[in-house]
Amino acid sequence: MTVTIVGAQLGDEGKGGVVDLYGDTADVVARYQGGDNAGHTVVHDGEEYKLSLVPSGAVRDKVGVLGNGCVVNPETLFEEIDALRERGLDPDVRVAERAHVILPYHRALDGIEEEEKDDLAAGTTGRGIGPTYEDKAGRRGVRIGDLLDPDALRERLEYVVPQKKALAEKVFEKETGEAFDIDALYDTYREFGERLAEENMTVDCGSFLQERIDADESVMLEGAQGTSIDIDHGIYPYVTSSNPTAGGATVGTGLGPTVVGQGEVVGIIKAYLSRVGTGPLPTELGGVEGQTPDYDPAGASADEEELATYIRDEGGEYGTVTGRPRRVGWLDMPMLRHAARANGFTGLAINHIDVLAGLDEVKVGHSYEFDTAEQSSAGTQNAMRSDDDELLTMPPTTEQWGRCEATLKTFDGWADVDWAAVAEEGYDAIPENARTYLEYVSDELETPIYAVGVGPGREETVIVETPDE
Ligand code: IMP
Repeated sequence: MTVTIVGAQLGDEGKGGVVDLYGDTADVVARYQGGDNAGHTVVHDGEEYKLSLVPSGAVRDKVGVLGNGCVVNPETLFEEIDALRERGLDPDVRVAERAHVILPYHRALDGIEEEEKDDLAAGTTGRGIGPTYEDKAGRRGVRIGDLLDPDALRERLEYVVPQKKALAEKVFEKETGEAFDIDALYDTYREFGERLAEENMTVDCGSFLQERIDADESVMLEGAQGTSIDIDHGIYPYVTSSNPTAGGATVGTGLGPTVVGQGEVVGIIKAYLSRVGTGPLPTELGGVEGQTPDYDPAGASADEEELATYIRDEGGEYGTVTGRPRRVGWLDMPMLRHAARANGFTGLAINHIDVLAGLDEVKVGHSYEFDTAEQSSAGTQNAMRSDDDELLTMPPTTEQWGRCEATLKTFDGWADVDWAAVAEEGYDAIPENARTYLEYVSDELETPIYAVGVGPGREETVIVETPDE
């Protein structure tokens, strides 16, 4: 049995807490995409652990697997493992031999290309994610298995590094150093391979996981980022370069779609919206310099800015990896309808309703109004509209999305209460207005609520249903 955890929005929905909570009943927690661009905080026995690559289950004595769909920076991997060991833990982490390796030139090129792209820049985390997936698709990547085979490693580097060096120097006119030096890379990455072998960390991911499932163990598949920054289903080009959607869980682990499809797919939703990076955001409140397109602080409404700052501070909306302030906005239902369909959610976990507590009213973007002047040329499908002007789901291009204006629906706010007590007492202890809000979301998505996050700690979660029980 598998339980797949998927972000329903733009990343940072609080997946880590849910993985951590449901992961209790799992024997193995596997990531299926992304790399050290993710950031999750796990609180265990009063200790806080910030991880970007190692699956959070590894903090709790679960086997943590980085699937073949991941891109792995061995430097980050070993730093995180060593830091956990220094704190007295003994994480059991396995890495797919088919996973691709992030090399220093990928990181260098990520920075160079972002600078060059200007308005089209995705505001990446600078971890080399995009360039590594590019090389994977271009069939010039280095895989984890190659690190264990010095001849294969040397051959791959000798082919690819001169191309990367020429790209940096001749196309982008940048100086290159050790990050583009074949001998230095070979020595360092062969050593990483030796350590992976010594610690018996590499696996054939699909077989490894299938054997555990056949032995009746429970496997959790942990998605990073979120549906709207999925390379296929997200707001291209302001996306990450992998598939956080549930389909990614099968190709990114080697488990068959029927295996993943027989399990649960839990969509993680944050009760409002937050985003790091550029691109449109129809329900945005206020704006963030350098991220919100055409943001003009002088022209911004003071009330909205105040509301945005309140939500940002209450929700700690600053990037785990980069520390950047995140853009915030009201919940976006067309985005969620799109996510529910693309992922086939069997259940929902809705987080952070405590962050909105204390507001007089809470709004959601129920649908979009499309700029009718440009509507016909935009070619959006009738199926997306409830009538001529109202869109119930996201249009397929980001330019069309940028022309959407959210039609807001208003809910009465709810008071700040003792959320720890609410978590203990259960769903009915959630303030009535908050339940009305939650049930609206569940009804619109025709998906039951499995859990409600009422605070940052894993104890501060109201569990309605545990997926594999
Ligand atoms: P990359 O994944 O570093 O290439 O960044 C591409 C886009 O995805 C940027 O807009 C990032 O801000 C966004 N992104 C990447 N990882 C995360 C995450 O874990 N949470 C939220 N946004 C992310």
